[in-house]
Parts: sequence; C-alpha cells; structure tokens
Amino acid sequence: MVWTRPRPRVPAGWRQEVERILITDAELARRIQKMSREIEQDFKGHEMVVVSLLNGTVMFLADLIRNLSLPLRLDFIGVSSYGSGTESGELVFTKELRLDVRGRDVLLVDDILDTGKTLYRVLGKLRALKPRRIKTCVLLNKAARRVEEVEADYVGFEIPDYFVVGYGLDFAERYRNLPFVGILHPHVYKKGCQKINQPGPKSGERGQLVK
Ligand code: PRP
Repeated sequence: MVWTRPRPRVPAGWRQEVERILITDAELARRIQKMSREIEQDFKGHEMVVVSLLNGTVMFLADLIRNLSLPLRLDFIGVSSYGSGTESGELVFTKELRLDVRGRDVLLVDDILDTGKTLYRVLGKLRALKPRRIKTCVLLNKAARRVEEVEADYVGFEIPDYFVVGYGLDFAERYRNLPFVGILHPHVYKKGCQKINQPGPKSGERGQLVK
C-alpha cells in the first residue's frame, strides 16, 4: 500500500515512544469493511468457524466480525513467540482450540504475518483437525521478513519492515491499546523497557515478546 496523504501527528502522550502513525483508525475501519465483504462472498452458504490467535488480534477481530453478516462461531488459539530483542524465538501454545472444526469452513485470523512461523505452525495443527477448508486472514503482511512459505488469503495492508505497534500489536505487552498502527521509536526496542514508564520483564527472566 502506498500512503499518499500526510500522516496525522502521534497524540502527545505517545510521541516519545511512537515515531509516526502508519495506518490511521479511519484507514483501518475502511479496509476492514472491504475485507469483510470479500470474506462474506467466499463464505456465504456455509457456517464458518473463526479461529483467532491470541493476543494480538483483539482489536482487529472485534472490528472484523462485527462487519461480517454471516452466522459464525468463534474460538481462539493462544500462541506466542518468545525470543530476544526483535528476533523470533520459540513458539509456545497457551490455549488450544475447543470447538470441533472437522468438516467446517475455518477463517484463521492473525494480526500480522511476519516470518510466517506462527501461521505455518498453526495451519499444521488446524489441518490435522480435518476442516473442510481453511482461509487465512491477516491485518498486516510484512513480506520482507518471511522465513516460512506461507501467504494469507486476505490481507489488510502490505507494510515495509517497520517495528509496528498498536491496534492489538505490542512491544513487551504494551501499546496494544493504541487505536492506530504506529511505528515504534528504535530507542524503545533497542534499550528494552528502560524508557517506558512501567518496569518491564527483568532481563534473564524471559525473552521479550517479539514482532
Ligand atoms: C505476533 C503476532 C503473530 C506473530 C507473527 O505474535 O501476533 O501471531 O507474532 O509473527 P511471525 O509471522 O514471525 O510468526 P506474538 O508471538 O508476539 O504474540 P501476541 O499475539 O500475543 O502479541
């Protein structure tokens, strides 16, 4: 996506940590409405199961499903990648799927497709449960960092290799509540949590969540 309009300023309270706004709340809303129409077309006539990955999808999922005028059931898989710095690490599953998806049409939702390690692993788990079909939907696609061969069927925005936070996406569990997608100041992730108001995970306690 090419952004032609000037970006609005980052709200004053976030300016020290968030360099600039990449995607505004209005752009998010517009794009999600369009994606919802595409998904409705593809899934109409079949009851769908939406499987959303915790925690980053919280805002995207809420806005996506309220735009879907289809009968659906909703479940979550908890998965986090723990690593050091900005590199992906080991995947840890924190919640398993409870709904039976055998023979069903599944829409797998994630906030960002980055290296592809998460989606690749989750797709493997889901396929083993024998759904009728699985379509994947991500808000953001960072193709430049892909390691696994995986692509999403529905993509909100193609983005360059920026460290993005907000609208569900975090750094060290913070910034998920920003109503826009913003670019984090490098000083925040280079110096860990030192510049952030609240104390973060102690070094050595566990790796930081990475994007
Ligand atoms: C983030 C994001 C995706 C995944 C993408 O999850 O929500 O699920 O990383 O990265 P990948 O394509 O390199 O695997 P994270 O592990 O940070 O957990 P979170 O959703 O709780 O933030």
